[in-house]
Amino acid sequence: MQNYADAIKEYAENHATGLTVALVTGVGLLALRRWMAGGVCKSKAMLEGKTVLITGANTGIGKETALDMAQRGARVILACRDMNRARIAADEIRQKSGNGNVVVKKLDLASLQSIRDLARDVQGTESRLDILINNAGIMMCPKWETEDGFEMQFGVNHLGHFLLTNCLLDLLKKSAPSRIVLVSSLAHERGHIHFDDINLDKDYKPEVSYRQSKLANVLFAKELAARLKGTGVSVYSLHPGVIRTELGRYLLPTLALWKRILASVFMKIVKNPWEGAQTTIYCAVDENVANESGLYYSDCAPKTPAPQALDDDAAKKLWDLSASMVGLA
Ligand SMILES: NC(=O)c1ccc[n+]([C@@H]2O[C@H](COP(=O)([O-])OP(=O)(O)OC[C@H]3O[C@@H](n4cnc5c(N)ncnc54)[C@H](OP(=O)(O)O)[C@@H]3O)[C@@H](O)[C@H]2O)c1
Ligand SMILES: *[C@@H]1O[C@H](CO)[C@@H](O)[C@H](O)[C@H]1NC(C)=O
Repeated sequence: MQNYADAIKEYAENHATGLTVALVTGVGLLALRRWMAGGVCKSKAMLEGKTVLITGANTGIGKETALDMAQRGARVILACRDMNRARIAADEIRQKSGNGNVVVKKLDLASLQSIRDLARDVQGTESRLDILINNAGIMMCPKWETEDGFEMQFGVNHLGHFLLTNCLLDLLKKSAPSRIVLVSSLAHERGHIHFDDINLDKDYKPEVSYRQSKLANVLFAKELAARLKGTGVSVYSLHPGVIRTELGRYLLPTLALWKRILASVFMKIVKNPWEGAQTTIYCAVDENVANESGLYYSDCAPKTPAPQALDDDAAKKLWDLSASMVGLA
C-alpha cells in the first residue's frame, strides 16, 4: 500500500502544473455547464381539463414543452407544418407521458391561409384554449418568401404568430385566466424594426432579419398585453437560452469549416432541449407570474429587454403594420 501512495505522491509532484491545469479546467467547464443550464421551472401546477396549443412542437424545445404540458395532464395540440414529424413526436409524447390526449394539427406559419384554416378548426372544435405557446421559429435562412410574399423569418416568426394569436383570442378570453407565451430570443437585443423596408428587400442579411423578427416578438407581447388588460389573458415573451436544437440548420452549412468545428464543440456545453424548455414552461404555468403580463423573461425570471423592445410607439406602429400586412381589420 505504502508503495502505491508513494508512487501517487511522486507522480503528483512531478506533474503538479499539469494536474492543476486539468483540475481548474475541469471545474471551470463544470461551472460553465451549470451556468449554461440556467433556471428550472419548479411549479408543480397540474393542467387537467386545460388545453394547450404549441406551434413547432415536433422537435427542439417545442417538443420538450409539449411533453411537459402532457405530463401535467393537459390536452395538448401540436400545431406543425410537417404532419409526419408531428405524428412521430405525438406518439413519443403520449408514450413518455402516459397521456393519450395529445393531437396534431396542420399549421404552416408561412401561409396565411393555413393559419386561418387552423384557427377556424380550433375555434370550431375545441371548447377551450388555456395556453397558447408561440414557439415555432426559423433562423438565418436565405432570402425566402412566404406564400404571401413576406420575408420568411419576419413572416413566420412574427406575422404568422400575430395572425394566429389574433384569430384565437376569443377562445382564449372565453377560457380566462389564460396565457399567451411568445418564444423570442436574446437576439432581439441587437434588433431593429425596419419600418421603411420590413421585408429587407434593399439589403437582406439573415441575422438582421432574425433579430428584427425576435424584437417583433417582444414588442408584440407588450402591445398585446396592453390591449388585453382586464380580460384575464396574460402575455409573456422570453429568451429560452442557447440550446442544442435544429435551429442552426440553415446557418451551419454557410459557415467556414473551422467555425463549424468550433460550433460543434460549443453545442456540447449549451442547454439541452429540456433545459431550454424551462422558461417557456415557467411562463405557461408558474403561479408566481399569474398576475404579470407584457414582461420578458430569461432563465425563469423576469429580465429587462433591450430599450428598443420597451418602445410603446414602436409597439403600436408594429401592430398596425402587422395588422395591415396580414389583412386584419
Ligand atoms: N435554440 C436556441 O438556441 C434558441 C435561442 C433563442 C431562441 N430560440 C427560439 O426558440 C424557438 C424554438 O426553436 P428551436 O431551437 O426548438 O428550433 P428547431 O429545433 O429548429 O424547432 C423549430 C420548430 O419550428 C417549426 N417551424 C419552422 N418553420 C415553420 C413554419 N413555417 N410553420 C410551422 N412551424 C415551423 C419547425 O418545424 P419543422 O421541423 O417542420 O421545420 C420546428 O418544429 C424559436 O422561436 C427560436 O427562435 C432558440
Ligand atoms: C394574483 O391575483 C389574485 C387575484 O387578485 C390573487 O388571489 C393571487 O394571490 C395573486 N397571485 C400572485 C402570485 O400574486
